[in-house]
Amino acid sequence: MNRNILGNSEEQVDIANLRKNYTSGGLVEDDLLDDPVEFFKLWLNQAIDSEVPEPNAMSLATVSESGKAENRIVLLKGVGKRSIQFYTNYNSRKGKSLEVNPSVAVNFWWAELERQVRMNGDAAKLSRRESEDYFQSRPRESQLGAWASEQSSEITNRAELSKSFEAVKQRFGKDPIPTPGFWGGYNITLNEIEFWQGRPGRLHDRILYTYGDGGWTFKRLQP
Ligand SMILES: Cc1cc2nc3c(=O)[nH]c(=O)nc-3n(C[C@H](O)[C@H](O)[C@H](O)COP(=O)(O)O)c2cc1C
Repeated sequence: MNRNILGNSEEQVDIANLRKNYTSGGLVEDDLLDDPVEFFKLWLNQAIDSEVPEPNAMSLATVSESGKAENRIVLLKGVGKRSIQFYTNYNSRKGKSLEVNPSVAVNFWWAELERQVRMNGDAAKLSRRESEDYFQSRPRESQLGAWASEQSSEITNRAELSKSFEAVKQRFGKDPIPTPGFWGGYNITLNEIEFWQGRPGRLHDRILYTYGDGGWTFKRLQP
């Protein structure tokens, strides 16, 4: 078999041999809460307290109109009773996919805590009011950036982007910056949440919550 060797000549790394034994914790049924969203908030707070870099960064998978899987990182910006929220450009690739297929999968990986949280749900646009409230709370530079970028469209070069940013800056001067109609949030209504805690010997803990008629129920999955 070909070994996958990475690194420079001083220090070579065989990625097939990269592995870590997870020892920092365990997840037993007594630890759980009836409401997995509350449990997620607990884990998120622990990730924040542990100074995990970008604890609210999550991978967001969508399905394109032609059925292709796609994935990117976005930032979690809110947690509701049975939902989570993020913000983006509605004309972006993900925006176009969500238009035809609201089904999403989300993943958080907090390496320092050896924890993963997976979620499944359906995304729907937030109300205009909610998107505006969040947009108006953003730093001015981010607001200008949202106007300047047609996210996911091709651009000839970096200079074009800078030009677009300068033009937007001129246009708004010192005025308050309105929320672009093409920009806003999504609310993901959650159907499944799985909590994964790394354990020694690959005998990890996995607890899967599913939402049904009677509310949330959970089961333990094999690692
Ligand atoms: C740490 C991190 C945070 C990001 N947060 C966001 C975000 O909140 N919203 C967003 O639209 N893009 C965010 N991005 C950029 C996306 O990963 C992606 O490049 C962009 O949304 C275009 O994706 P699309 O072409 O699939 O629509 C983030 C990227 C990184 C690495």
